[in-house]
Amino acid sequence: MFFCILQVVYLMAKLVLAYSGGLDTSVAIKWLQEKYGYEIITLTLNVGQNEDMKFIEEKAYKIGSIKHYSIDAVEEFVENYVNNAIKANALYQGKYPLSSALSRPLIAKYLVKIAEIENAEAVAHGCTGKGNDQVRFEATIKALNPNLKIIAPVREWNLTRDEEIEYAKKNGIPLSVSKTKPYSIDQNIWGRSIEGGIIEDPFIEPPEDAFELTKSALDAPDKPAYLEIGFRNGIPIELNGEEMNEIELIKFLNEFGGMHGIGRIDHIEDRLVGIKSREVYECPAALILIEAHKDLEKFVLTKLENEAKEYLDALWTKLVYNGLWEDPLRKDIEAFINSTQIPRVTGKVKVKMYKGNMRIIGRKSEFALYDIKLSTYSSESQFNQKNSEGFINIYSLQTVLAKKVEKINARREERTKV
Ligand code: ARG
Repeated sequence: MFFCILQVVYLMAKLVLAYSGGLDTSVAIKWLQEKYGYEIITLTLNVGQNEDMKFIEEKAYKIGSIKHYSIDAVEEFVENYVNNAIKANALYQGKYPLSSALSRPLIAKYLVKIAEIENAEAVAHGCTGKGNDQVRFEATIKALNPNLKIIAPVREWNLTRDEEIEYAKKNGIPLSVSKTKPYSIDQNIWGRSIEGGIIEDPFIEPPEDAFELTKSALDAPDKPAYLEIGFRNGIPIELNGEEMNEIELIKFLNEFGGMHGIGRIDHIEDRLVGIKSREVYECPAALILIEAHKDLEKFVLTKLENEAKEYLDALWTKLVYNGLWEDPLRKDIEAFINSTQIPRVTGKVKVKMYKGNMRIIGRKSEFALYDIKLSTYSSESQFNQKNSEGFINIYSLQTVLAKKVEKINARREERTKV
């Protein structure tokens, strides 16, 4: 009995840390052990960031993780996160395809899951106090398990980059920061975000060394390339007439589009926390697929549906950017979106790429509302042009009336002046 009590007392509390393998979260392993006395369990999710998961695992153990979870979540990420973004044509402020924003609620979900499996008291992430990611992680964690303690070491420790490197050296934490490429990168299958360094000056063009997935338009092939993308129920399923696994399709578009100089984004972004930041991204597949998907929607949905959808797409995008993935509003909007997609957003879109430029040059669908018998200027036309006269009379009724009243009043004013 006495022995049992002693054992309970000696059991250290556990914490699950979202571990990327980078400097911040590596330092965090040691710092959380030292400062809070936790046993650290690390978790790395593969969301298509093209990193050596085995290497990350070994690094975690070397620094002091007592147990490491390496989870391949690419499929889940594409199916439940990316696909909703495609269907919502999600481009925050018209530019950013939410690549990082989409991955956070998924990582948060696994943090909670592992914490529950391991009976951990707390979870931690490596976000700063200046960005959106902290909000995305914490809002999701709280929604899924409000009893978990959340620690954000980077937000707490207030170390400069140099002090952090110093701490790492002192504690034997392997370093891989290079002085020549001082960018902070976040990558997954939906895109790559590049922050920090010289690109913090919004007037300076991002240097070539910031980019990895995309070629400069100058170095892109001199011949235009054509692709035919097939969608079913709003989701890409086919490339040049061949059914293809979606993960492979996205990877292919990242490579192919990148080679043609497609996918670079440079814009000023309004973060949820109020800061304006200059953001640089490379998202070839995301930009190609959203452009193609939007084009197909215009072909098959009614004008009113497209108008309502534009509004609800933007609302979905803002909600996700702002970290409220778990708010029921997301699923409410998705119910509307899915009702527009299934089965009608099905068909093919032809894309032409040439030296950093991308254009949709054709579309085809069995659900098309495009009717050549109505739109043609040839003698085949079945549109009764006489109907337009009456339509215009009614359509313009109030505009004509308002102009008439305006003129009467202008004349009256003229007369009183004389
Ligand atoms: N500004 C983008 C967003 O809020 C990119 C964030 C990238 N995150 C990172 N930890 N480097 O989604």
